[in-house]
Amino acid sequence: MPTRMPIRLTRPIALRWLLLLLVGLVGPALASLFPIPGPELDATLAPWIKQQYNISHDRLLQNIFNNGSVIASPSRSHPDYFYTWIRDSALVMDVVVSLYRQAKPGSPEEARYESLIWSFVHFSKRLQEVPNRSGGLGEPKFHVDGRPFAGDWGRPQNDGPALRALVFIRFAVAYLDKDHSPDKIREFIYDSNYPSSSPLKRDLEYVAQSWPHHGFELWEEVDGHHFHTKAVQRAALEYGWRFARLMNDEGAAKWYYHHARSVEVSLREHWSPFRQQLIETLDWRGDNKGKAGLDLAVILASIQGQIEGDEYMYPCSGEVLITALEMMHAMQRLYPINAVRRDLTGGLMGPAIGRYIEDVYDGDSMTGGNPWVLGTCGYAELLYYCSAKWASKSHIKVTEPLIPVLEEILGMPSGSFPVASGGLLRHRQYPELFTSIVGNLSAAGDAFLRRVRFHTPTDGSMSEQIDRHHGAMRGARHLSWSYASFMTATWRRAEVVKQMERLRMVSHHEAVQVGPVADDDIDADRAVLALVSQF
Ligand code: NOJ
Ligand code: NOJ
Repeated sequence: MPTRMPIRLTRPIALRWLLLLLVGLVGPALASLFPIPGPELDATLAPWIKQQYNISHDRLLQNIFNNGSVIASPSRSHPDYFYTWIRDSALVMDVVVSLYRQAKPGSPEEARYESLIWSFVHFSKRLQEVPNRSGGLGEPKFHVDGRPFAGDWGRPQNDGPALRALVFIRFAVAYLDKDHSPDKIREFIYDSNYPSSSPLKRDLEYVAQSWPHHGFELWEEVDGHHFHTKAVQRAALEYGWRFARLMNDEGAAKWYYHHARSVEVSLREHWSPFRQQLIETLDWRGDNKGKAGLDLAVILASIQGQIEGDEYMYPCSGEVLITALEMMHAMQRLYPINAVRRDLTGGLMGPAIGRYIEDVYDGDSMTGGNPWVLGTCGYAELLYYCSAKWASKSHIKVTEPLIPVLEEILGMPSGSFPVASGGLLRHRQYPELFTSIVGNLSAAGDAFLRRVRFHTPTDGSMSEQIDRHHGAMRGARHLSWSYASFMTATWRRAEVVKQMERLRMVSHHEAVQVGPVADDDIDADRAVLALVSQF
């Protein structure tokens, strides 16, 4: 275990390749170092994003009750989603934690978010204590008053406690960051006792003990070992050990650390070198819904299970991106609405994205699968994420599965990428290529948001799915997770704006720089930033 270090939980909240490759265009004209060449983010999208963000924010909060339960949707029949799912609630409360972090200290908004989060903390503790049919914390959904759901269901679902643990940790860190005393955290979130009666430690203990076991995946359909579940379990254990240490719970820190490393090894098994794909489910039992492997779960896993500073199977890894690309092509062909490629402004649209190719769930029964709002927003988020991440680093680590992805982003013929696997594509060395990559990626993110805009009614209401034939919203109305996914995508977009600006400064500096340059690209960039910030 690494030596003691300050906890870093800066999961970036702020957080045209596809559009180029969708229509088979070639990358943007290569231009001079400064100003940055390549396509910019589409400024005409901004007013809609702002409006849809506000609607999403309000709708999301309306789905959180004062007792701390979060409904998946207000729909009580066809389908009945009027329950609190552990997974959906965690993803929604993660957004509330981000809002809390961003809120001005002492503002009424900050107080409102904080009080919702504490209600969620207390409600979660109650749910952990209610006897249920899973016989543990893997029970996927409850009634909104906290009673267990007695019907048959795909259980257990072990991604829930991991996602919830991540929410507790992010909140605790944000709370401490705001200079509050740790007393309340110790009392209500993490008590360092064993066995523990506090919700975070209980979740972490459950994750550490349950990760090797099979269970149902986030789509609640297949029993097996899942990439998504393991990815979020690993993130919970990774942040968990750091947090345990912060709470002086050394023994637990060691234990979680040990398991985080083991989950990591197990995650590798999901990479198929033969198919050059990450496979969501291994060792399934019973019905696997005829799945061949391509699954949105992998993309969501990389985002939700991402660990700051860690590059293992993270969103911009070749493994994740080649899988995402492959699935995107398949989705393009799968849904009739994706044949329409331009919106009413003439802007290009990425394909609407569903859960997995063989899906037949229509939002209520089983007449055929559709694209999902959270899938399409998830793609936008992934692309913005990579654009911002690479722009912030000023280099890209080139790996074997990444090469075909980068070639596609650039519209280059296969085999013509200039850097071999194992090398670095440095901004300083290949400024045009580099800026085209990050520019094309963010523009592709916009293409996915344009797709979302195209299918969202003017009142901004978002359901679970988008009808594959006629493009109208369908399935559970006002799905909390749809709104959450839109909001997190826009935060990543804001991060792109910031990082592009930074890259511009770096480019400028490089253009005027004389004399030899430092060997280490990153350090050089830091020096530039330091220099610039002095003025
Ligand atoms: C509801 C589940 O939430 C959904 O994921 C699943 O596809 C359908 N039931 C059918 O099992
Ligand atoms: C069905 C989805 O497959 C599942 O992931 C989700 O938890 C429930 N709907 C509730 O939104």
